[in-house]
Amino acid sequence: MNISVISGSAAQQDTPLLVLGAFDGEPIPAPAADLLEQGDFSGKPKQLLLLYPRGAVSARRLLLVGLGKRAQLTGERLREAAAVVAQRAAELKVERVTFELPASDALPAAVAAQALAEGALMGSYRFQQYKSGLTADDTYQVAELQILAADEAAAQEGARVGAAVARGVALARDLGNTPGNDLPPAKLVEAARAVAERFGMQATIFGPEELRAQGFGGVIGVGQGSANPPHVAIVEYGTKAEGVPTVCLVGKGITFDTGGISIKPAEGMEAMKMDMGGAAAVIGTLHVLGELQLPIHVVGLIGSAENMPSSTAYKPGDILKTLSGKTIEVINTDAEGRIVLADVLYYAQRYQPDAIIDLATLTGAIMVALGAHAIGMMTNDDGLAQRLARAGDEAGERAWQLPLWDPYKEMVKSDIADVKNSTGRYGGAITAAAFLSNFVGECSWAHLDIAGTAWTDARPKSYTPKGATGVGVRLLTQALRTWTER
Ligand code: BES
Ligand code: MN
Ligand code: ZN
Repeated sequence: MNISVISGSAAQQDTPLLVLGAFDGEPIPAPAADLLEQGDFSGKPKQLLLLYPRGAVSARRLLLVGLGKRAQLTGERLREAAAVVAQRAAELKVERVTFELPASDALPAAVAAQALAEGALMGSYRFQQYKSGLTADDTYQVAELQILAADEAAAQEGARVGAAVARGVALARDLGNTPGNDLPPAKLVEAARAVAERFGMQATIFGPEELRAQGFGGVIGVGQGSANPPHVAIVEYGTKAEGVPTVCLVGKGITFDTGGISIKPAEGMEAMKMDMGGAAAVIGTLHVLGELQLPIHVVGLIGSAENMPSSTAYKPGDILKTLSGKTIEVINTDAEGRIVLADVLYYAQRYQPDAIIDLATLTGAIMVALGAHAIGMMTNDDGLAQRLARAGDEAGERAWQLPLWDPYKEMVKSDIADVKNSTGRYGGAITAAAFLSNFVGECSWAHLDIAGTAWTDARPKSYTPKGATGVGVRLLTQALRTWTER
């Protein structure tokens, strides 16, 4: 779907589908008012009504979309509205949609246009690579979304950002939806390299020999049970410079998590192909950075392994020596993500970043705590927490902070090694973060646990189909876009 911005009067648009937002408690927009009975449409969020104006306006079809109360209009409302509109437009098989940008004092035109573009594109996402016999109906894509805006320049800029963000999200979703047999660690890091190559970024990939030689004992330990060897990818966008912030983005890239010797139950295990959702978010965000060319220095680091049980697999009781020199007592081989992250977080410190942000589908415990509607955030820097919480609110990917107090850090100490990788069920998301805190030194750092948000079996938002959600790309992009303004 191509996105363009035009200006002019809605009633005069010669278009197969004109979309007008309608607000709860306000009269129906003028071009539609005579075409329906009062009371048939209330304007509540995501409500749709299709009308055939038959010459009353230039458009062949008119679609009203409810937006709720005007004073409460948010980007998130528009994202959801744009997604239902895009889906209806695809059903109607129109080639073009003209969407009048709703006006509200609550929302600047650029923000509104960004949300429209994101919602329409994210809501049109389908993962169909593995289906045969698809019909033209199955694959139909609306060719163009025209945003009709009074402030053309602002809308243009917003739409450009929104389209770039949505493409980053689609990339992250594709990676998350791709099954483990087609996305082993070597391929996941290849996806990072491909983004780097496309946009002229620096890429470094460590295979198993380099990892062993350099002392990535955590990554090697987790990956040693698989015939698909572990890899680490480092992609550098921009360069370190005075006055330019350096941010490291670290992603958990377990391409399949069986649990290893501490094997998971069979039921639902197939979803563990998404255990690289953190890495996918980092790769998707790098893609957005490449498109938008933001003035910031970002290093994306991905630690990737396949967690398998086998005669060569690591075992409960094993002690691994990490890149930092600290040792980990393995209590449970299913707590593998934190072991991989230990090495990669430690490695990130060499860039002397202003912040390290890691994203990981790390714990079932975060799903118990927050469900599917918030990212769990734990950090050693409350300023960074505020920054990320705000970015998440604006982007429609909310992050909620949990404490990381000293008593939790006591819990991860081991009797015979420096730390242990599991402490039982209580406070499981926090103790996982407490474990990670041992490997970031004095760096400002935030851990985002996306285990509850990276995958969905339902459709929690109209713009999120079943499967991988691509969570993290929007939050990270918003944080990086606003980094120097705040
Ligand atoms: N990848 C899982 C966490 C997960 C669970 C992600 C559900 C997405 C959905 C992680 O590696 C894991 O297995 N964590 C264990 C840790 C425990 C053994 C300490 C968990 O949460 O049960
Ligand atoms: Mn696991
Ligand atoms: Zn895992």
